[in-house]
Amino acid sequence: MKNTFGNSVALTLFGESHGEYIGAVIDGLAPGIEINNEYIANMLSLRRPSGRISTQRIEKDEYKIVSGVVNNVTTGTPITILIPNADVKSADYSQIETIARPSHADFTAQCKYHGYQDTRGGGHFSGRITAALVAAGAVCKCALEQKGIFIGTHIKKCAGISDREFCDLLGDIKALSKKTFAVLDDDKSEKMKEAIEVSAENGDSVGGALETAIVGMPAGIGEPWFDTVESMLSHVIFSIPAVKGIEFGAGFSFADMTGSSANDEFKIENGKVVTTTNNNGGINGGITNGMPVVFRTAIKPTPTIFKEQNTIDFKTMENVVLNAKGRHDPAIVHRARVVQDAVSAIVMCDALAMRFGTDFLK
Ligand SMILES: Cc1cc2nc3c(=O)[nH]c(=O)nc-3n(C[C@H](O)[C@H](O)[C@H](O)COP(=O)(O)O)c2cc1C
Repeated sequence: MKNTFGNSVALTLFGESHGEYIGAVIDGLAPGIEINNEYIANMLSLRRPSGRISTQRIEKDEYKIVSGVVNNVTTGTPITILIPNADVKSADYSQIETIARPSHADFTAQCKYHGYQDTRGGGHFSGRITAALVAAGAVCKCALEQKGIFIGTHIKKCAGISDREFCDLLGDIKALSKKTFAVLDDDKSEKMKEAIEVSAENGDSVGGALETAIVGMPAGIGEPWFDTVESMLSHVIFSIPAVKGIEFGAGFSFADMTGSSANDEFKIENGKVVTTTNNNGGINGGITNGMPVVFRTAIKPTPTIFKEQNTIDFKTMENVVLNAKGRHDPAIVHRARVVQDAVSAIVMCDALAMRFGTDFLK
């Protein structure tokens, strides 16, 4: 399916950056889940831009749930969430309608939709659409917390500056849920923000990496081949615009390890099977082993920058020089972190429902 993802719990996403609404439909969530509006609003506020490190486009994200919920409780039928777009300035895009921003989706959208695509503000490819992902993910994340499953993401790296490692996972996840800029080390947080601001002043952008931990997933979730937990997560993570890489556990550093340093030895602790290390990021053979699921993503620098760039006009088929206008994020990483939490929550709900049935999340 083009805009639908998931098996037992499926998500459909729709909308354009400057259209009337963006939104999501979640199908397959259990009946009887309480909807916590404060929780959804808080997650949306963590994605919202603020200050000089983000776009100046400010949206209130006043979402409406128009189906699937009665008296704040899910009915078990499709939940439709609508979010109006308000602060739009389409004129910024009218002069570059047929000019391909390097690294953005303008040229590929033209190849696929033959000029019928909505080009205003990046249309269907805009980071704006991730607000709907976050609202849907918030419903799922809140339901998971009732089952003792917690998800948190920190900015592992931004503009070459690294945060500290996760240590007390649950404590760190709780702390991150209150941070508007999700860095565990406050000193590094300030340095990253300064680097983003400097880059913005230079008309440029910076990239980074995000690290997510999912704590409390029971062992035995996932399928051995095509719906491994890694493949389900990767599939949905690559739907976040600007994600260009993912690694689980020790990831690419496995390449330099030996079996004896890479293997996660098992032991029984308080009657439970655990591993002494977690290089495999909580997944063996595509299936959760009960340890925290840990993965990292690479987020590219924002494509739209305010420096001259060589590109093409795909209508006139000429080489041109682009001087982009409009309001853009000088970095994406700090806004994408809550999107990463949201999509992870949707996948965990799907994997749990595949294993235990829809009513598990009730
Ligand atoms: C939260 C968020 C905000 C974004 N903001 C911008 C932006 O202001 N300007 C921009 O050019 N791209 C922005 N992007 C990235 C583009 O949407 C993305 O790079 C583009 O659609 C091409 O997709 P790709 O990078 O996955 O290939 C944002 C992405 C996210 C997740």
